[in-house]
Amino acid sequence: MHSVQEISPEIFWVGGNDRRLERFENMFPLPNGVSYNSYVILDDKTVLLDTVDSSITDLFIENVTHVLGNRPLDYLVINHMEPDHGANLERIVKLYPEVKVVGTKKTFEFFRQYFNTDISANSIVIEKEGTEISTGKHTLSFYFTPMVHWPEVMVTYEKSKGILFSADAFGTFGALAGNLFADEVDFEHVYLEDARRYYTNIVGRYGMQVQSALKKLSSLEINMICPLHGPIWRENISYFLDKYNHWSLYKPEKKGVVLFYGSMYGNTENVVNALANKLAQKGVKDMRIYDVSKTHPSYIISDIWKFSNMVIASPTYNLNLYFPMHTILHELSVLGFKNRKVTILGNHTWASVAVKEMKAMIEGMKDMEIIGEPLDTRSSLKSEQEAKLDELADKIYKSLDE
Ligand code: FEO
Repeated sequence: MHSVQEISPEIFWVGGNDRRLERFENMFPLPNGVSYNSYVILDDKTVLLDTVDSSITDLFIENVTHVLGNRPLDYLVINHMEPDHGANLERIVKLYPEVKVVGTKKTFEFFRQYFNTDISANSIVIEKEGTEISTGKHTLSFYFTPMVHWPEVMVTYEKSKGILFSADAFGTFGALAGNLFADEVDFEHVYLEDARRYYTNIVGRYGMQVQSALKKLSSLEINMICPLHGPIWRENISYFLDKYNHWSLYKPEKKGVVLFYGSMYGNTENVVNALANKLAQKGVKDMRIYDVSKTHPSYIISDIWKFSNMVIASPTYNLNLYFPMHTILHELSVLGFKNRKVTILGNHTWASVAVKEMKAMIEGMKDMEIIGEPLDTRSSLKSEQEAKLDELADKIYKSLDE
């Protein structure tokens, strides 16, 4: 059966959830599922904004046809072409052959790459920012937000109510549990961690473009944000805008330490535990420790983004850096991560490479400050090295206040 909600007069959510999918983009774990949001406007003219992933096609088509009833679909607005939203575009075009499809020039290029149906006769290419389409009581205007997080992306602003259909921006992992609005749930407890993990891993590389988009949209009166994933915002919107501002400026949300390590036999882990223990006794609160072989990098990256300091610890492996640690530092570098304080702990038995490699990878990122002399343990931490660990703990503790 259909499952829709009217989110504003004449505007309906027609999306759905997937709680079975193991990994988003076949990479990022989804323990809480994911929602794919899509919206219909029922005015003198009818509009569908984006579609959904192929996993929920049947429900989506039922939702759309239920809301439209016997009416034709006049416009299909494509804010984003990625298949988690675009998978049903061709199907909609075939179901409503007269529909006018609205997108950017790049949108139609991508449409041709994904599909075989020729829609050129029914395409409305938005060439100028702010271009408007009136549907009767509602007027839609379109703004380009390229690389948030694909090049074709635009957002749609509904002028009469001040509703922003924001594509992936302001989205989050986590399925919706009936309540569609962020103010209907305990967002901080239910969604914030997933929202940060979604932003940092999916959009994180494009901080500069997110900043441009935020600046561009700041002149609009926005009363509601309808993203393509996760809850809709209609109250306390500035709370989430502030999070996005922090994240896209690569500014930590919190002074604190996240420690992550690779450890084959527990010796490197032991150094990390000893250091965390000393930091705790100095008064550092709310620390996080992760084993890079156990915890998916997306969770660690999300916390790295949150805190001001990180401690990285790894053994040498095959005369290189331990592979899972290399992976996570490589991911950070690809995401353009910057502006943090880093302490380095290495370990080796017969050849020391890890410290050198970690230092080089961190120095390859912008505005990273290395706190303390890297400590290179030989096989296992000995009590005569405790003074060095104390010195590191002291420097990390002091750096939290700088
Ligand atoms: Fe949710 Fe970029 O697709």
